[in-house]
Amino acid sequence: MLAFLLLDSESISTMDFKQIAMLVSFGMFNGILSGILANGVLPYMESVFSLATNSRLLELTDLSQPLLRKLADEAPGTYQHSIAVATMAEAAASCVNADPLLTKIASYFHDIGKIKRPSYFAENQSSENRHDQVTPYMSSLILIGHIRDSLDLGREYHLPERVLSIMSQHHGTTLISYFFEEAKKLKDGDEVNEERFRYPGPKPQSKEAAILMLADSVEAAARTLPQHTHSKIEGLVQRIIEHKLKDENQLDESDLTLKDIEKIEQTFVRTLTSMYHGRVDYPGKLSNQMKAVTDGSSDQ
Ligand SMILES: [Fe+2]
Ligand SMILES: [Fe+2]
Repeated sequence: MLAFLLLDSESISTMDFKQIAMLVSFGMFNGILSGILANGVLPYMESVFSLATNSRLLELTDLSQPLLRKLADEAPGTYQHSIAVATMAEAAASCVNADPLLTKIASYFHDIGKIKRPSYFAENQSSENRHDQVTPYMSSLILIGHIRDSLDLGREYHLPERVLSIMSQHHGTTLISYFFEEAKKLKDGDEVNEERFRYPGPKPQSKEAAILMLADSVEAAARTLPQHTHSKIEGLVQRIIEHKLKDENQLDESDLTLKDIEKIEQTFVRTLTSMYHGRVDYPGKLSNQMKAVTDGSSDQ
């Protein structure tokens, strides 16, 4: 480009072949150097300024990157959950004009902080429930703490700010009702401060964050279904989404329309049905998972 501008600014007729060749070469060299600089500097800029450029997000789709390997090694149940949530959330985002790539990456990392105390979360438990050994207040603190831990770890690994922001909203201001009820039983009728059992929020502020919240809750609940028939999955998806929408009012700050929610429901049913198609359910394992969910240690 520069070469042509230079050629344009001078009268070619007054230049000899050597001068023209020199200007063209200079222009080409400038173009190549700019390309090298842009490619070399961009990854550092993305990392230093935590930018969610498409190339940075594509880089984060690599399942062999260190932070996801760490999750797979230290909290394998959470890793499986996150991959399943990402599959559901990405498919749903594509249907409602949200950003599928951003939604997928936020899903991969949304629970990364569970690495700190994996055994307190249902998906990583086999038989023992660690919550039996602590008070409902402590259980609530541990569950709520996984949001802060996820953000801390995400920052340490330079995840883009937009990804961190979606991660921070994935439980909104949901009440951890099981431990709230347990605390009330211990108080024997005395007042229990509900805020101590509520995630701090904010509620989902975008379509991507709302989709992650819904996929997260639906995936965790689907694991507890004794049978994964199409109609059971459909009933479950409708119940969970209705609950988040009407009982907990968690979607009122996102941009989702009722039409969008309908499309998300259909996509979740389709994705979950194909995920569970041909998978054998083991009664013993399922009953353990169900117990964990009803104990409130599941990530819902
Ligand atoms: Fe979570
Ligand atoms: Fe989760």
